[in-house]
Amino acid sequence: MDGNGRWAAKRALPRVAGHRAGAEAVRNTLRAAVEAGVEVLTLYAFSSENWRRSEEEVSDLKGLLRFYLDRELAELAREGVRLRLIGDHTAFGSDLVDRLELAVEVTRHNRKLTLVIALNYGSRSEIVGASRRLAEKAAKGEIDPAAVDEAAMAAELMTSDLPDLDLLIRTSGEKRLSNFLLWQAAYAELLFVDTLWPDFDKASFQAALHDFAARQRRFGGR
Ligand code: FPP
Repeated sequence: MDGNGRWAAKRALPRVAGHRAGAEAVRNTLRAAVEAGVEVLTLYAFSSENWRRSEEEVSDLKGLLRFYLDRELAELAREGVRLRLIGDHTAFGSDLVDRLELAVEVTRHNRKLTLVIALNYGSRSEIVGASRRLAEKAAKGEIDPAAVDEAAMAAELMTSDLPDLDLLIRTSGEKRLSNFLLWQAAYAELLFVDTLWPDFDKASFQAALHDFAARQRRFGGR
């Protein structure tokens, strides 16, 4: 969800105003995804590298997430949205942790759309953790190292209960993966759009789905 800062700068507003507008874009995109029948929508809200931002900005982002959860939880529940988290959200302090875990609990039986929020998430560290757990199981004799295959690895990732990524959208003209779902995106279609995240709306999401639908996916075959 890139471009919040630039959106604010263009308007001579503080960065937090861009993140606030970004949270509105989250709301619109989520609605559009529910309407389109999307099963899983994953949002990269805070990377493990985002701690390098100023204390003020980190605190603003935490505040916004808290505000969003308080305001949207009832609607998420009503719309049949199940909330899932990936990353280590425990680093965000008990106030936010409690709210996040409550939201996961309250929505866990919902089936219409799974909204995955990546918080304090980094893909390499996720893969390292999964590898370490497999190595520990092998060292204890619980599994045969020869039995470690792609399915065994996928089962140790934080996304073990989720499908592989089909479409990855990055906004604001950046053309990088930036440590996001590297394993899960192995066969994802990539879409880079110039739109700044706060300007991303229902029409942008529909256009992205349209673009995706026109792609020919071969998964390495012909
Ligand atoms: C990247 O833009 C955006 C973020 C690091 C934060 C994303 C967070 C939200 C949209 C707020 C709330 C989230 C939820 C799930 C409700 P940037 O700051 O890097 O922008 P720039 O590249 O223009 O500087």
